[in-house]
Amino acid sequence: MCALNAKTFDVGRIRAAYPALADGHAYLDGAAGTQVPSGVIDAIAGAYRAGIGNSGGAFPASRRSDQITAECRSALADLTGGQPEGVILGPNMTTLTYRLARTLARRWGPGDEIVVTRLDHDANVRPWVQAAEQAGAGVRWADVQLPEGDLSLAQLTELISERTRLVAVSAASNLIGTRPDVAGITALAHRAGALAYVDGVHATPHGPVDVGALGADFYATSAYKWSGPHVGAVIADPALLATLQPDKLAPAPDTGPDRFERGTLPFADLAGVTAAVEHLASLAAPEAGASRRERVVASMAAAEAHEHELFRVLLGGLDAMEHVTTYGKAARRTATAYFNVAGHTPLQVAEHLASRDINVWDGDNYAWELAGVLGVRDGGGGVRAGLVHYNDRSDVGRLLEAVGELGG
Ligand SMILES: Cc1ncc(COP(=O)(O)O)c(C=O)c1O
Repeated sequence: MCALNAKTFDVGRIRAAYPALADGHAYLDGAAGTQVPSGVIDAIAGAYRAGIGNSGGAFPASRRSDQITAECRSALADLTGGQPEGVILGPNMTTLTYRLARTLARRWGPGDEIVVTRLDHDANVRPWVQAAEQAGAGVRWADVQLPEGDLSLAQLTELISERTRLVAVSAASNLIGTRPDVAGITALAHRAGALAYVDGVHATPHGPVDVGALGADFYATSAYKWSGPHVGAVIADPALLATLQPDKLAPAPDTGPDRFERGTLPFADLAGVTAAVEHLASLAAPEAGASRRERVVASMAAAEAHEHELFRVLLGGLDAMEHVTTYGKAARRTATAYFNVAGHTPLQVAEHLASRDINVWDGDNYAWELAGVLGVRDGGGGVRAGLVHYNDRSDVGRLLEAVGELGG
């Protein structure tokens, strides 16, 4: 792989690509959904302008849709290090996970077990728990160690056994940013003969992804978290997919990832997904001749470095305020802060910040189990301020100033 220069990351140039950022708000809500650059908007509009049809037809508009779909699978493979033939497309991660849980659970029965974690977003918990219950299989829970807010490999070694059929784990917590040792956990799963389903929804926007290195049999992601439209995807080994039998309509395709895709895909949005991957690949200036995969990896490494530089300031500033409590101290984490302010509910803090044109989320952000572990679920959760590649020092400074106003 050729070495690309990560120092060319220019946040001013990147911000200029996002029309929505011109409204002057500090967009620290990226963990719930990012803004979209012009290239993505143009790609979606361009698909409609050119004319698209349903898939599989003999005429050009239909062929264009099939081409868009194929390009989208290739783009997602480049983003994650997977193969285009293993890319399942769908409306969002939650829907796809329910679909795969139903498919995988056909093989489970009494005596089998699955392992889920209290670190995960509920979309990588409840679909598995409910599928296991319906199959008569058992559920083992991996705890979150406090105050780090991380999983324990030692506990997972105890939990994962020859009875385990599936381990569902997040590549990064959407609440406190923890990046658990996914490769270590998937290795335990594989040693036991289990499959590993990795929720990459929060991890994907924050650094390079390599599904092979993670050991993910399934890797789920959602394009709206990384500057794309509202489309979800699961990346899996095509050979593994071929062994599964999803529910499908009789005339629907019998081979390939299409078997897991129900009904008609949002073709214009898929063009937007490809444009979003191109956008990510362009974050750090490429050397001539680099492949898109190489450019994505280099650019996302540069984005991660940029986010972490800002995050040090953000977290350091919050931790220095006596009226603020922050959650999570994992050694490896995304630039995602979760905190509470003494004397104010999370909603009051979010409203105060909104009055200063700063967008943050309040609540449990669907990390239901983790909010319970942190002891904040019943009190309205916390406040989440998350950085993505288009945030800058001014966003961080404004947040710290506005939270500071709530002290004393
Ligand atoms: C870590 C994580 N997993 C899963 C989801 C659910 O994703 P989707 O909205 O695509 O169903 C989210 C959404 O916020 C998330 O942050």
